[in-house]
Amino acid sequence: MNCQTPVILPSLLAADWSRVADEVKRAESAGATMLHLDVMDGSFVDNISFGPQMVASVRKHTQMYLDVHLMIHRADHYIERFIKAGANNITIHVEAGYDTSLLHTLRRIRGAGLHAGLALNPATPLQDALPYLDEIDLLLVMTVVPGFGGQSFMEETMPKLAAARHHRDTHGLKYCLEVDGGIYTNTAPIARQHGANLFVCGTSSFGPADMGQSMRDLAASVA
Ligand code: DX5
Ligand code: ZN
Repeated sequence: MNCQTPVILPSLLAADWSRVADEVKRAESAGATMLHLDVMDGSFVDNISFGPQMVASVRKHTQMYLDVHLMIHRADHYIERFIKAGANNITIHVEAGYDTSLLHTLRRIRGAGLHAGLALNPATPLQDALPYLDEIDLLLVMTVVPGFGGQSFMEETMPKLAAARHHRDTHGLKYCLEVDGGIYTNTAPIARQHGANLFVCGTSSFGPADMGQSMRDLAASVA
């Protein structure tokens, strides 16, 4: 994973689920190379989305890099299913509960040859991620409280993002920095300035009828 070049990742959460295969093609035709998939369990977050079967179905229709964001408890219990479904990256939350441990789960993901990501809710300090930063490929700094698309960007998370970049660059670490939630052409540049190179965009990418244009506008805003 290249952690310098800015990449826009459409989030499937904002797609039309009655025609997922077409929406995946729409994202691809609009220039997306990575797709973000939000898995919600109705317990870790107050919403239920989809599971490994959706990831496997999407995989059948695209070669795009699949960035799977698990907003679930007991990710370790389910991890093999997401690996088998064809995920390229699996991101787990530092605040979630695990049957084994967070560290074991990260190592299992990497052990299977995937990239491993760690996510922090807006209220969670960077300090909670410190023990894991040499075990991950991606740090996701949530810019909304996870659970729903269409929420407003929380600018107060930006000092944490900048601190994560500083920590990486001063400790010889290699994780990419991803932001997720409320990313539009006016907020993406703020996150870019604070160190993000992976921009998850739901409403702002799939929302407009001309997705090619929305992807170009988003990319231009962080170029
Ligand atoms: C929020 C999800 C996001 C969501 C972002 O809990 O993790 O990935 O799709 O949606 P927007 O871009 O609409 O804020
Ligand atoms: Zn997400």
